[in-house]
Amino acid sequence: MTKIITIDGPSGSGKGSVSRLLAKTLGFSYLDSGALYRLLSIAASRHQVVSNNQKGLKSLAEHMDIRFETDDEGGLIALLEGEDVTLEMRTENTGELASKIAGHSDVRSALLKRQRLFATGEGLVADGRDMGTVIFPAADLKIYLTASIDERARRRYKELLEKGEDVSLRALAEQVRARDERDMSRDVSPLVPAEDAIELDTSNLSIEEVLETILDFKRF
Ligand code: C5P
Repeated sequence: MTKIITIDGPSGSGKGSVSRLLAKTLGFSYLDSGALYRLLSIAASRHQVVSNNQKGLKSLAEHMDIRFETDDEGGLIALLEGEDVTLEMRTENTGELASKIAGHSDVRSALLKRQRLFATGEGLVADGRDMGTVIFPAADLKIYLTASIDERARRRYKELLEKGEDVSLRALAEQVRARDERDMSRDVSPLVPAEDAIELDTSNLSIEEVLETILDFKRF
């Protein structure tokens, strides 16, 4: 049976970096579920499917041609219909649109099936918002990462600057807050810790410290 570790939390909580590092350390596969929502939002723009067209989005979610590869530094490369869309996938605009379409239940159930297919081999680290609550409720270890809004905005700011995006910290803090609120208050699969998740505040922790803490909780 594939061992599964779920890492959920709001944007900027550190889940992406920690999950990638954890997967590498354990030799497990990695699922960046947010990337699926982001790729769907890019596919929707390309095919002119508007964000309230649930039927069109569901069909795209079921059939979109996506592939993930890893670069030399272990970063994720995302291909949509054979085209490398990694940079576009990480922009704040794409995240915003992803969060809007993520509220549709039909989209979520179409992506649920695609996400579960990642659970093969020895182990999987699954990163997202509903990994421990909906996609892998029987996971072997569930982690819920949080951090203060200021710290999360600061991390996103740094990340976007490094990618060459021109953003203001104050505007970004507001965007991060609004996206979290939407993710936490939607009717389907809202962002909440699973009842059996271990909650970790990463505001004052380095990625390595978070990794060590998670490895200490691992009992398999
Ligand atoms: O994690 P990331 O910022 O890439 O996710 C983009 C958006 O996709 C989130 O704001 C959220 O609305 C949605 N998402 C989701 N469920 C997941 C992962 C992401 O609803 N498991």
